[in-house]
Amino acid sequence: MVVPAAGDAAAAAAALMGETADAGGSVVLTGGSTPRDAYELVAARHSDWGGVDVWFGDERHVPTSDSRSNQLLAREALLDRLVVPPTVHPIRTELPAVDAAAEYDAELAGEPLDLVLLGLGPDGHTASLFPGMPALDERERLAVATPPGLEPFVERVTLTIPALESGAHVVFLVVGEGKAEAVRRAFADEPSPRTPASLVRSLNGRTTVILDEAAAALLP
Ligand code: 6PG
Repeated sequence: MVVPAAGDAAAAAAALMGETADAGGSVVLTGGSTPRDAYELVAARHSDWGGVDVWFGDERHVPTSDSRSNQLLAREALLDRLVVPPTVHPIRTELPAVDAAAEYDAELAGEPLDLVLLGLGPDGHTASLFPGMPALDERERLAVATPPGLEPFVERVTLTIPALESGAHVVFLVVGEGKAEAVRRAFADEPSPRTPASLVRSLNGRTTVILDEAAAALLP
């Protein structure tokens, strides 16, 4: 799905999150800077997240008061704005990353993930699955700790490919010309571990890629 501008992409992602929230489904939130507008939009239009389970696709191993925290972004732009809150499943960064990942892996077991929202890094990473890192090869555990492959250079906890691909609807939200080359590698070129996002698609459901024209500029 290519839309003219970043605002349109945020609105498209917000609409999909709103549908899942209205149905009381489960949502996996992404981090980074791109989703902020979409979170604020869906919070304004769908303020009742009763019955929803919220998970995090990855987290930087910092306190949730740290500006780099994905959970802080979600709280500020979405969760604290809701009238009826969801059940939030935090990644407990107060634990050592390996322990927080093991706890999340256990908590995720058997949990259906309806909407998995993902971003794309300029290096082709998604969640905190970076090129060349062992986390990309994990096929058993649903969450692992991993070193960072890109700034912010702090340890991460990330959902793995088995977790992400279990999503009934995997949605990538990518905007800006800085992502155009990664978009081509992730969604047009042959899948490759050099571009982790190219390896993530819904296994039994659907995958939607929301791009603004700038991010889609190098697609054939
Ligand atoms: C993270 C995110 C990551 C993000 C991409 C894009 O923890 O950084 O989960 O996967 O989606 O890095 O980030 P931007 O939206 O900031 O470009």
